[in-house]
Amino acid sequence: MQYSPEIKERVLELHRLINLHSHNYHSLDAPEILDQEYDALFNELLDLESKYEELRYSYSPSQRVGAKPLEGFQKVEHLAPMLSLDNAFNNEDMLDFNKRILDRLLGEEHVSYSCEPKLDGIAVNLSYRKGNLEIATTRGDGKVGEDITHNIKTLNSIPLSFLDKEIGFPEFIEIRGEAFIAKEDFLSANKLAEKAGEKTFANPRNAAAGSLRQLDPSVAASRPLNFFAHGIGYIEIGDFQLPHTQSDLLKLYNLWGLPVNPITAVASNIEECQDFFQNISSQRNTLPYEIDGVVFKVNDLSKQRTLGQVSRAPRWAIARKFPAEVGTTVVKNISFQVGRVGSITPVAEFEPVNIGGVVVTHASIHNFDEIKRLDVREKDTVSIKRAGDVIPQIISVDNSKRDKNSKKIELPTRCPSCDGSLTKQEGEAILRCVAGLDCPAQKIESLIHFVSRNAFNIDGLGERIIALLVQKGLVSNSADLFRLKKEDLLNLEGFAEKSATNLINAIQHSRDTTFPRFIYSLGIREVGEATALNLALNFKDISNLMTASQEDLLDINDIGPVASKFIKEFLLDKKNINLLEDLINLGVKPKAVEVKNDNALSSKSVVITGSFNNIARSQLKEELIRLGARVTSSVSAKTDFLVAGDKPGSKLSKANDLGIQILEEEDVLSLLNS
Ligand code: IVH
Repeated sequence: MQYSPEIKERVLELHRLINLHSHNYHSLDAPEILDQEYDALFNELLDLESKYEELRYSYSPSQRVGAKPLEGFQKVEHLAPMLSLDNAFNNEDMLDFNKRILDRLLGEEHVSYSCEPKLDGIAVNLSYRKGNLEIATTRGDGKVGEDITHNIKTLNSIPLSFLDKEIGFPEFIEIRGEAFIAKEDFLSANKLAEKAGEKTFANPRNAAAGSLRQLDPSVAASRPLNFFAHGIGYIEIGDFQLPHTQSDLLKLYNLWGLPVNPITAVASNIEECQDFFQNISSQRNTLPYEIDGVVFKVNDLSKQRTLGQVSRAPRWAIARKFPAEVGTTVVKNISFQVGRVGSITPVAEFEPVNIGGVVVTHASIHNFDEIKRLDVREKDTVSIKRAGDVIPQIISVDNSKRDKNSKKIELPTRCPSCDGSLTKQEGEAILRCVAGLDCPAQKIESLIHFVSRNAFNIDGLGERIIALLVQKGLVSNSADLFRLKKEDLLNLEGFAEKSATNLINAIQHSRDTTFPRFIYSLGIREVGEATALNLALNFKDISNLMTASQEDLLDINDIGPVASKFIKEFLLDKKNINLLEDLINLGVKPKAVEVKNDNALSSKSVVITGSFNNIARSQLKEELIRLGARVTSSVSAKTDFLVAGDKPGSKLSKANDLGIQILEEEDVLSLLNS
């Protein structure tokens, strides 16, 4: 129906009023009007929207709930990457961080920092265009996330339109923050789930993730999700002026109606940061939500820009983490698991124990020698340590509590999955099952690797479903995944029309992949992401790779005799050849990737030595390869550059003797960033 300008005006005024009163009620806990008055405004809006369809804007307060479940998640590229943070574990790391900053910001004596509790939730990006929420996404891999707008809209604390538009706003802005569930809400949600016989969550973070990654927005709406804004991504500034500091940016967010953690503060130097950390550590247990540390950010935004970023983390921020947490529990049993390439590793199952808010039930034990060293046995009382996302570790056994009849754990003699024989290869500390893909456990693990995030990245195909598909004989190798039909899935427990369609679609979409991912997904021994990237850059496509000789492989930087042997063996195996052909015939299309060759490092031979402060070594290696460098492991007359980090050792002296140019961390990082 045609509407007059006055009607549109009224609709927008209703948005403003409803948003304001909803903010007063939900975020400030200070309602200014009666519920009935609020309802009247809301009903008036609903009424107008039903009369004039065109006035039902996506950011209308009426659109928070009631959206239909989605068919699947849309992938969305972030306009600016969602970075992660470097960690500091003690005061010294913090002082080093401060020194690095001061060194870079020549002439500064001290720098102010914004100090913010590090929420242990899920990173979310909110994109606002002209002050209206356009899209909300998860972090994903930092470059591409998933559209979760339907779920985010159900969070009453997140404005669909900026609350105060009078103060102005940019044309477009990506606001970054953390979605989380409070500890208490998590406990009650778990109780409800338990009563209803549904799955419970191990910790609040998983509960938040589980709620946001739901296709049906009514699930997120029923969960008490919260949000704190803490950062900024891409911005089209228009006529607007951004504040000059992080702390003022957070204040601005607040005026726009976005929740910001109230216990953030500004420290005028690094010593005050240390005090803030102590203070937060002592409050940690009384906070209503989980935090795993404190984030310190250079407060001045122009200084942040000067400092820039390194690969995946900014130079201007650091996360000071709380120390690992320790707990005591009893070992229920110790079993042996079979890995993707047959390695047998011991796993301990515990009586569930809550360590710092996370229920721990398992720990993987490094190898059999570790069992011998600890002499850990079934029914033992043990201390376990948990540090962030790291897999929990047994640190000691309480011998005084040991059962008199307990027996030492014996090495297995047959494969626990296929009962095949086990071998121990020369120079290896571990036992292996040599049955390869004939062993069900290895089959499952290979498929898990194949669908994993850095390989084919197939959503919704977790361990449980893969095990079920293998068990039912529906899938026996990766090519079989692409042969699956909806009907196959419908016969499986837990699948309905929609979930089956979604999974089949996700599998089919994954066929458009890149050549490095394709190679990595094959799970060839010794071929991790960096080696896969090297192979892809050198051979461009599968047929070149298939016909490469072991010498060709050895010619590639970073590939030594062991890796080249595994690669060649893999490519000569008839079963693998058939599998590759099958994959291509089923429409898998790996795209070639290009090397950059317009920089100082392209085609140069580079060796890396020592440790680095601002980039992980593996990451550094990958980035150098992308720049076209040949990264090799030993220094020789052919080496063009040695990248030397801390504690460089003998490679540095050899390079000096040979007159090879040395690059320090800073030099190489600025090359990477240029
Ligand atoms: S800033 C550019 N601030 O920690 C820096 N992150 O390990 C990006 N996080 O993925 C993050 N509280 O999800 C920042 N006050 C805070 C944070 C915070 C929690 C999370 C964030 C990020 C992760 C980095």
